[in-house]
Amino acid sequence: MMRPSLFATLLCFTLLGGNLADAQKAETFQLQNDNNLKAEITNYGGIITKIIVPDRNGNFADIALGYNSVAEYQKATPYFGAIIGRFGNRIANGSFKLEGKTYNLVKNNEPNGVACHLHGGTKGFDKVVWSAKRISKNGEKGLMLARRSPDGEEGYPGNLDVTVTYWLTNSNELRIEYAASTDKATPLNLTNHSYFNLKGEGNGTILDHILSINASRFTPVNQGLIPTGELAPVGNTPFDWRTPHSIGRDIDSKHQQIVYGLGHDHNFALDKSEPESLTLAATVYEPTSGRVMEVLTTEPGIQFYSGNFLDGSLTGKKEIPYERRSGFCLETQHFPDSPNQPSFPSAILHPGDEYTSTTIYRFSTQ
Ligand code: BGC
Repeated sequence: MMRPSLFATLLCFTLLGGNLADAQKAETFQLQNDNNLKAEITNYGGIITKIIVPDRNGNFADIALGYNSVAEYQKATPYFGAIIGRFGNRIANGSFKLEGKTYNLVKNNEPNGVACHLHGGTKGFDKVVWSAKRISKNGEKGLMLARRSPDGEEGYPGNLDVTVTYWLTNSNELRIEYAASTDKATPLNLTNHSYFNLKGEGNGTILDHILSINASRFTPVNQGLIPTGELAPVGNTPFDWRTPHSIGRDIDSKHQQIVYGLGHDHNFALDKSEPESLTLAATVYEPTSGRVMEVLTTEPGIQFYSGNFLDGSLTGKKEIPYERRSGFCLETQHFPDSPNQPSFPSAILHPGDEYTSTTIYRFSTQ
């Protein structure tokens, strides 16, 4: 019997429409596995521009929100598909103390009127061109992105050398491996900010997707979406995803945390027997297509964000406006504001230590 493709292939082509201040060329790279799943990644921001996976009848669709050109990502994006760094999520008041010194970062976000630093600043890892190299290992193909984040970039200390490697495996996993080292102690919390809609991007809201998260505790936030420092039990709250249920079920609840987040926008402390083990963090099932996405990670936390700030003003790849809650994110991470929260797992990388982190998005149908 003929198989559609014997080996994973990796194609590279120039993405049209880029107008990069960096004068470096943005390209997109396509990964394809033996089962014809595809992922496309541009080295501008390491953005995953497409994830094409089958439904239960074998019909393929692109389930990643985003745009058709780099120019559109440069114009306005709520971090669609991007690498986030140096620090995923918020740092209170844009400031932290490290080894006796106070560092002030740009305040680029103001939820409910309270200013903070979000997702690495005004020109974070999502807005720079990375060097890109096609790689392969054990018959599988990947893309390795690399860059040096210079000392002082966006206010962070130390020269930081980072690689982010994407693999599309023949087990239908999009595997992301992060590695970094520094010459001065620095906060570091790398993640990917893909927005998913398992019906296919542009096909309405994600409210009927069925979610489960393997977490008995979450980190409640204050009005400015900064963790209070508490690890609260999820039992009898809208944050108990230990039993799968629809994303929409409690999304308009009057629970104070839902009111602050304008819906779901919270970090969960994952249940793990070994702190840095690669474990199942979350599962999402979309009943009409049968698509299932599992998220596995070595990280201690995951941010579940239900796309509350999408408002129809951004138009996606199919020329359809992305309405409120038409995509969701599951961002694996250390807990928000960790540099100011001594009780949270440390998110400080020291010289001589190697930062490593792995996250897998695994696709199947049911
Ligand atoms: C945050 C949201 C934020 C969004 C930006 C998410 O990671 O949790 O609060 O609005 O990113 O698009």
